[in-house]
Amino acid sequence: MTDHAASASKLEPGVSQLRCIACAAVGESGAKSVRCAQCGDLLEVAYPGWKTAAGMRAGGLHAAGLKQLWLQRRTSRNALDESGVWRFREILPALNDWNLAITLREGNTPVYELPSCGRVAGVERLFAKHQGMNPTGSFKDTGMTAAASFARQGGFRWVACASTGNTSASMAAYAARAGMRSLVLIPQGQITWGKLSQALDYGAVTCQLKTDFDGCMRVLDEVVERMPVYLLNSVNPYRLEGQKTAAVELLERLDWQPPDHIIVPGGNLGNSSAIGKALLEMKELGLISSLPKLSVIQAEGANALVRTMRETGGKKLISVHAETMATAIKIGSPASWKKAVRVLEATGGAVEQVSEVEIALAKAEIGADGIGCEPASAVTLAGLKKLVRQGFVKKNESVVLILTGNLLKDPDFTLKFHRGDLFAGTEHEEEAASVLSPRQRAPMVLDANANAVVKVLEYAEQTDPRK
Ligand code: F0G
Repeated sequence: MTDHAASASKLEPGVSQLRCIACAAVGESGAKSVRCAQCGDLLEVAYPGWKTAAGMRAGGLHAAGLKQLWLQRRTSRNALDESGVWRFREILPALNDWNLAITLREGNTPVYELPSCGRVAGVERLFAKHQGMNPTGSFKDTGMTAAASFARQGGFRWVACASTGNTSASMAAYAARAGMRSLVLIPQGQITWGKLSQALDYGAVTCQLKTDFDGCMRVLDEVVERMPVYLLNSVNPYRLEGQKTAAVELLERLDWQPPDHIIVPGGNLGNSSAIGKALLEMKELGLISSLPKLSVIQAEGANALVRTMRETGGKKLISVHAETMATAIKIGSPASWKKAVRVLEATGGAVEQVSEVEIALAKAEIGADGIGCEPASAVTLAGLKKLVRQGFVKKNESVVLILTGNLLKDPDFTLKFHRGDLFAGTEHEEEAASVLSPRQRAPMVLDANANAVVKVLEYAEQTDPRK
């Protein structure tokens, strides 16, 4: 890949180091292990130079200058500048050579207003940043461009992940772009066809294990110990650095005026940690003057963080056996829970859980605003409704939902929803029938004549709920 203009390499890179979140030991950058060699906890990327004004000036990190530089790059044809991640490279770990960056022009995702969802939730200003509009259809691409590039820099031939589907799709794509091989471990029968087909299309060696996501993670940890493969799950600190840029891009789009609330779905808790880290760093760098509250929403059946906060005050992880139709977040033992607790506390955000029927309804409501997303993303709107009812989010406050995955990732869920079979035979059947039916639009089979279609059209007009 030779499409990175040389001009990028002239930039003063931000000096970064890997640091343990528990014992603060400094890790070896470029090492294979993504955990602390001293205590085994997770590492994060730290920027010691930011601690002093002189250090910040040396790195070219004055807020006004950065804002202008990042904006200017939007007109550039340089591949790094075209990436919605690397455009912000001053606040990312620097590669030894910028030509090592693997980019599919990730990021650059839209912020939409959601007027009818706002009415449903009871807030006046509701927006969605749609990370499902990334190259492989999920937010994972923003992290993967960073971590896969570091894998390439480290000379790894193989990269690997355990996944509920989106990470594997993304990793397989980025590995393929750089000629690396990829190994995917997924729970058999628990990821959507759309995601599985992406991994296959991009050439991953794909293993469906007879276990759940947490089981895949355990097996992969052992494989990584034994074989020369580089781990690209979100325990990889470079993933979170890339994912930070969703928040930076959002704030730039809002002219650096922070919203009152940002709401994200929680699975393995990498994304909430990344967005929280970005908010704290933007505040530290003077890019924003106040912190939005970052709230995390989980499915009731995969509510490890909710229980951890409620039952231990965030001190000790409570793992659960995960069950939810929002398969992307069907995770019982979230790896980045400590990082997520830290950002929840630092921003004053809430943690909440939502039921399966609430998720299905919220997904249809987002769809009806012409946006669409996958079920895991819809927990954000379902959670917002609860936070408004509890008074945590006020009617006149501005709220941004982070939608993490594209509607087309899980068409099966949408089809079952509209046909009315999503909850057939489950304990939620009765509740679903009454709550969801006004939103259901099942496709109709008709004789091939205009009369039949006209009749349907007339009926739809007479019964239009918006009239
Ligand atoms: N939304 C979607 C669409 C996801 O795919 C995921 C995670 C999440 C939300 C939760 O993000 O884990 O950072 O808290 N998917 C991972 C995967 C686990 O393997 O694709 P998180």
